[in-house]
Amino acid sequence: MNVVKTGNHLGARITDVDLSKPLDDTTFQSIHDAFFENQVVVFPNQQLTPEQQIAFTQRFGHLEQHVRKESRLQNQPEIFVISNLIGEDGKPLGAVDAGRFWHSDLSYKQNPSMLSALYSVEIPEKDGRIYGDTQYASVVAAYEHLPEVMKKRLEGLSAVHSYAYYRKKNRLAQQEEAKQGGRVIKEAELSDEQLKTVPDMSFPIVRTHPVTKRRTLFVNEAHVSHIEGLSVEESADILGQLYEHIVKPEFRHVHSWSRGDLLMWDNTAVQHKATFDYDLPLRRLMYRTTVRGSVPY
Ligand code: SIN
Repeated sequence: MNVVKTGNHLGARITDVDLSKPLDDTTFQSIHDAFFENQVVVFPNQQLTPEQQIAFTQRFGHLEQHVRKESRLQNQPEIFVISNLIGEDGKPLGAVDAGRFWHSDLSYKQNPSMLSALYSVEIPEKDGRIYGDTQYASVVAAYEHLPEVMKKRLEGLSAVHSYAYYRKKNRLAQQEEAKQGGRVIKEAELSDEQLKTVPDMSFPIVRTHPVTKRRTLFVNEAHVSHIEGLSVEESADILGQLYEHIVKPEFRHVHSWSRGDLLMWDNTAVQHKATFDYDLPLRRLMYRTTVRGSVPY
């Protein structure tokens, strides 16, 4: 196995390992360590069935099943399908606009996701150019470079992560996009039953990484509705400053996809965002698994 760093704070390319085969404990431990050291890693040229992706990623822990049932792969509910393709029944094959805002996956759950693994089955490509990059920002590096006065201000503060807030924000963005002549997206409504499984959660803004023990920022523009105990204005002001800081170029990394990449990111250490610069007939089909993490502290 070969690990080559591709970025300053985050990013590595791991080659000479076949993830479709069962891995011995030593190889798995090397992958585990390289992953947590580099925050975002790509395994290029993999040929994985959904079962093999599940088998590899569940070595890290329990796999989640996404609340959006209609975007789970049939018979393989641990796979969350992200795609712009439409099935024969006229319904989207998967989530069409997952990752519109900077976020870490499932941050609104009681046990937010430890890691996500996204496998590229089909990627949009035209005239030799690849579309649909995924962007990353290291919230570990961002925390470490915060001014001391802000670090002090954040001590003891908690923020509310809300899936209901995200749905509303995303719907408004979809409506705005359609008004501007962009894509018209019809997402399935969530039932009250589904929404009940994702109640709002409050977590410390400054979090300790459970594996590396580094401190990190745990707020994101997709899921966080407000900071607890502050006025609306003060909460919005602090969140605005943090969001601006997190996405500074020096903390960023971009992944430009190739077919067969398995890309894995550490949801405690980074945030990510999709790029919607393609449309049908350019096709994008991705399979994501997410591993349950621990309760933030
Ligand atoms: C995600 O937010 O998990 C999706 C990222 C992407 O499709 O590029």
